[in-house]
Amino acid sequence: MPRWVPLLGGVLGSTTCGLLLYAFSVFIKPLRTEFGWTATQVGLAYAIVVLVFGLMTFPAGKLSDKYGPRPVVVIGGAILGIGFYMVSTLKGPEDLSKLYLYYGLIAGFGGGMVYLPPISTAPKWWPDRRSLATGLTVVGLGLGSFIMGPLATSMINNPAIGNGSALPVFKYVGIVMFVMAIVAGLCLSNPPAGYKPAGWNPPAPKAGAPKVGRDFTFGETVKSIQFWLLYAAYFCGSFAGLMVIGVMAAHGINEMNKEAAALAGVAVKELPADVTKAIAMQAAIATSALNATNAIVRVLIGAIADKTGTRICFLVTFILQVVAMLVLFPVGKSLFLLCIVAIIIGWNYGAMFTLFPATCLQYFGPTNQGVNYGLLFTSWGIAGFISNLLAGRMFDMFGTYSMSFIIAAIFVAIGVFCLVISKKPAIME
Ligand code: 2OP
Repeated sequence: MPRWVPLLGGVLGSTTCGLLLYAFSVFIKPLRTEFGWTATQVGLAYAIVVLVFGLMTFPAGKLSDKYGPRPVVVIGGAILGIGFYMVSTLKGPEDLSKLYLYYGLIAGFGGGMVYLPPISTAPKWWPDRRSLATGLTVVGLGLGSFIMGPLATSMINNPAIGNGSALPVFKYVGIVMFVMAIVAGLCLSNPPAGYKPAGWNPPAPKAGAPKVGRDFTFGETVKSIQFWLLYAAYFCGSFAGLMVIGVMAAHGINEMNKEAAALAGVAVKELPADVTKAIAMQAAIATSALNATNAIVRVLIGAIADKTGTRICFLVTFILQVVAMLVLFPVGKSLFLLCIVAIIIGWNYGAMFTLFPATCLQYFGPTNQGVNYGLLFTSWGIAGFISNLLAGRMFDMFGTYSMSFIIAAIFVAIGVFCLVISKKPAIME
């Protein structure tokens, strides 16, 4: 098959995952209004989906290495679509555990199976443009959230569809996701053994590079300290990024409301409704800015890393992220500065999803990339689960996100350290 087909599969599959994951915040209010649940109760569904999605990538990678990507993504896509659709069958407040089951467990389970295999497959077809190919298999995470935010909001508000309820979104978009993910799976297969694009030969290894005559086995990969350095760095970067994605709008609203109240010489709760509404819309702009760069960077950084190598891209984005985390609290009161910082954070966060798989491939080789990267990515799920729960608790304790952002900056700084000392490992014979 033409080698752009697996790329198309990657874009479609990752867009389905984007529809699942990153627009969840638009469902929170309608679900709370319809069923009377608290923000924490609804938020737990998101923490569960992130954890399950992240943990599923490991078995998904293993299965994909063994049986090929197609059956894994087709079956995962069906599970994902069915789980998402099932949310539309919720009836009343007593169905909270069904929200966790259908959205968090079932859809998250299928989502992890759809996400991982294209990432390990597409670069095998594009050994000449590995990072770019990787970027295209994850770009849909940004695209999907871009589509789902406005789409879900307009469906919820449309009197003929949702009329205030989010359930029809789960029904109709669930069906679309089912079809999209299955088509994505059908686009995927591994290239024949020893595949090389016409006219391309692997570059000669650089002088002084460790001698690697074959790819790492999975056992060798997990015994290598380099793998765990990448794991720690991925955990730290994801912890910070997912925390900010979860609270960006709330942080902007909180700080801009305080600023407006101080300027007007009134208490925050005395601000007129039209002012607080306008501030909420402004905060949404900062979130969209973050989403936009989170999508764009995945392809751009792939093209850059194919020229410069992943290391320099990693160091620049991680160091920038430490600075961004440190200034995120004070810039909260200015929409302009908040948007600039949001753009930088989205860029640095999204870059990870191209740079980590590309580096894993470079360090340990393509043979076991599915299972290697599947395990590496579990760090994202665990980080997201913890950071989402922690940010809420911190806010309840301090009344601002200041402490959460400082903790996030410390985590990313630890990530910088791990990346500085990591290097391509040699085979241990
Ligand atoms: C990503 O954004 C799912 O977080 C993962 O690619």
